[in-house]
Amino acid sequence: MNITNAYLAFIVVPVVISTGIISFTASESLAETSKEQEVEYPEGYRDWTHVKSMILLPDHPFAETFGGLHHVYANETALRAMKAGTDYPDGSVLVFDLLETSTDEQATATVEGHRIRLDVMQKDASLWFDTGGWGYETFQGDSRVRLISDPNASCHGCHKTREGADYVFSEYRD
Ligand code: HEC
Repeated sequence: MNITNAYLAFIVVPVVISTGIISFTASESLAETSKEQEVEYPEGYRDWTHVKSMILLPDHPFAETFGGLHHVYANETALRAMKAGTDYPDGSVLVFDLLETSTDEQATATVEGHRIRLDVMQKDASLWFDTGGWGYETFQGDSRVRLISDPNASCHGCHKTREGADYVFSEYRD
């Protein structure tokens, strides 16, 4: 090995190896980041605390998207903040469970129908800093199919009006 080759062995090889490592690490962490940034499906939310319900009738301005009967649920972390009136800490999850409605056979009662969509807000200030710390997602019907590609336009733009309540509309009632 002459001087040039020895030089190359020291310089070029480590550069190739380290570049390989760097690009590997970069693509790994990119994959991890985008995975972490996905709002999780709120498994078991029907065991959480029911906060409130509301029916949006066909004449409501948002009926096309939110028409039907919805129930709002909060996990334990979110519920504590909601009751105390403080900002929501990381780990808070809120669910907006939207169902169709129909009338019973005697036409004397409004009853729950199929699930239309499940809207979720999950708090992690380090992940979703451009939407007030909240990750927003909609799951279609009973599925895990994600419908939201631009949470700022589809969700946060409207929730922003509630900045004073950490972007949450619902309030806890006894
Ligand atoms: C046009 C305004 C508007 C848009 C757009 C909107 N929301 Fe909401 N959202 C509301 C209102 C109003 C409530 C309170 C409903 C109630 O009081 O029962 C609410 C409630 C919620 C709740 C329960 C917690 C809370 O703030 O009360 C979640 C979860 C939620 N929305 C998620 C979403 C997601 C996800 C999107 C985007 C797909 C979205 N919202 C888009 C107006 C909006």
